Amino acid sequence: MERSLVLIKPDAMERGLGGAIIGRLQQQGLKLLALKMLHMDEALAKRHYAIHEGKPFFEDLVRYITSMPIIASVFEGENAVDTIRQAMGTTDPAKAEAGTIRADYGLDIQRNATHASDAPETARVEIALFFTEDELFDY
Ligand code: CMP
Repeated sequence: MERSLVLIKPDAMERGLGGAIIGRLQQQGLKLLALKMLHMDEALAKRHYAIHEGKPFFEDLVRYITSMPIIASVFEGENAVDTIRQAMGTTDPAKAEAGTIRADYGLDIQRNATHASDAPETARVEIALFFTEDELFDY
């Protein structure tokens, strides 16, 4: 069974959208294995977004994601990575398909409400940054 990390990012937290977004993913039939609220520090942000280091938006992205507490979660399901990415829509909310989470809730390309893993292998690495194995519930 495939897993994905999902983050509810600061712009969504600020607008009280965490529950709605988690609910929409649960309604897709995805199983919630773990959930926590945390304030990412700079070190965690830089590790999580290491692949974007050196890009023009990197420093801003780190500042943004560490600006307030966020929700980190793990979802599991068949093709969880693709299912979640489809439910979220394209990175840029302005280009996201109607009815997707980012089209409905995203503000701009940085403040796009959510983050999700882009592949099962990335998911394994990302999940381990936020959760221990013990924190992933089996039910
Ligand atoms: P996310 O899916 O979390 O992965 C990387 C993040 O960087 C992305 O969502 C956006 O929040 C941000 N991002 C990606 N591309 C850009 C861009 N061109 N300008 C600003 N922020 C970006």
